[in-house]
Amino acid sequence: MAHAQHPTPVTARASGPLSGRVRVPGDKSISHRAMIFGLLAIGETRVTGLLEGEDVLRTADAARALGAIVHHDGPGAWRVQGVGVGGLREPAGLLDFGNAGTGSRLMMGVCGAHPITTTFDGDASLRKRPMRRILDPLELMGATILSQEEGGRVPLTIRGPKEALPITYRTPVASAQIKSAVLLAGLAAPGETTVIETEATRDHTEKMLAHFGAEVRVTSEGAHGRRIVLKGQPDLQAAPIVVPADPSSAAFPLVAALIVPGSDILIESVMTNPLRSGLLTTLREMGADITVESEANEGGETVATLRVRAGALKGVEVPPERAPSMIDEYPVLAVAASFATGTTRMRGLQELRVKESDRLAAVEAGLKTAGVTCRIEGDDLVVEGGNGKVAGGGTAATHLDHRIAMSFLVMGLATQNPMQVDDGAMIATSFPTFISLMNGLGAEIA
Ligand code: S3P
Repeated sequence: MAHAQHPTPVTARASGPLSGRVRVPGDKSISHRAMIFGLLAIGETRVTGLLEGEDVLRTADAARALGAIVHHDGPGAWRVQGVGVGGLREPAGLLDFGNAGTGSRLMMGVCGAHPITTTFDGDASLRKRPMRRILDPLELMGATILSQEEGGRVPLTIRGPKEALPITYRTPVASAQIKSAVLLAGLAAPGETTVIETEATRDHTEKMLAHFGAEVRVTSEGAHGRRIVLKGQPDLQAAPIVVPADPSSAAFPLVAALIVPGSDILIESVMTNPLRSGLLTTLREMGADITVESEANEGGETVATLRVRAGALKGVEVPPERAPSMIDEYPVLAVAASFATGTTRMRGLQELRVKESDRLAAVEAGLKTAGVTCRIEGDDLVVEGGNGKVAGGGTAATHLDHRIAMSFLVMGLATQNPMQVDDGAMIATSFPTFISLMNGLGAEIA
């Protein structure tokens, strides 16, 4: 398992102005799905720009264990020879997903609708995360949970039915992982599987289903929601996948450039899918100087090269309905808010409690260590900005969470005293080149 056996503390200290041009690695959500769709397609799926982080490599291992032939041709370039929907092989051993919530949950959807028995496990972080939200719809589709840890946690074993039942499922929380697990399971069911979400979440699965030739209809539902209807048992045909740069990784150099005085950087070709762009919206409301230098299309997604310049930020209220489009960005937004003038209130963050760590608690604790005044009120996080000045000093506890580690390292680039994180090992799950990329811009992280 991807445990940090020997924690690796990392320190960031006040840096001179950041400058230069960077491209962050491929999108994690799309990279996981590239492996999964490659497995489920007939023929060879060619992937370029794949994120070669530990999480995605676990999903690639799982695809192999389920029968795919996976080749690594060079940096970011992969080929997956699939088995087709219905063609999965029962894995010989358990599937160890390490730290990867997305990989494990989406694969539960895939395996739980096929007539095989599969055991899922992961590291100490994944073992704490709720899987009932995936197991509930899978049971409705005919899966049997042979064993599970308390409350539906890994390690757990699922036996899929001979033939899955199509269902209509209303997701109980706004979660692209739940939606995707049900749709992936629906591939193996006859008839139509429908997912209804009251808040639209990232749509990479729907887009990829259509790209691989499945019939999928998406319509709006209520004020902010969507209804997705999938026709089951298609022959998915292998199709090339170009993975655009991950906006959730771009968030780190972006916020760093905003808070380190005098910075002026370019971040190339960042995916600007509107269901992933809540951070950009919020930072612009805070007065951030972010301009689009050029736009293009990569793999069916709009990408933009962003110019980011440091400057004063002001506190804002972030509405709860924006949460799905920036769910992974709240820790680093809290860092930006610490340097702003005035109060930032981030509303409706209950889902942050069940990420790689309890991010609400981890952010509050880390900010307090750095001398920031902040509090949790119900499901809201309230941060009092220091008007450009944050004391820093001390060590933030990362709880096996890559985004907590990167957020507090970004913070330390602009605090009066260095910031340490207790363990940087988990950064490799999503952004293995983070430290070298940041230091290439002039950051001091070691
Ligand atoms: C993801 C969905 C989000 C996000 C995660 C990736 C995905 O989780 O936090 O990092 O790729 O579908 P939820 O859908 O559970 O909110």
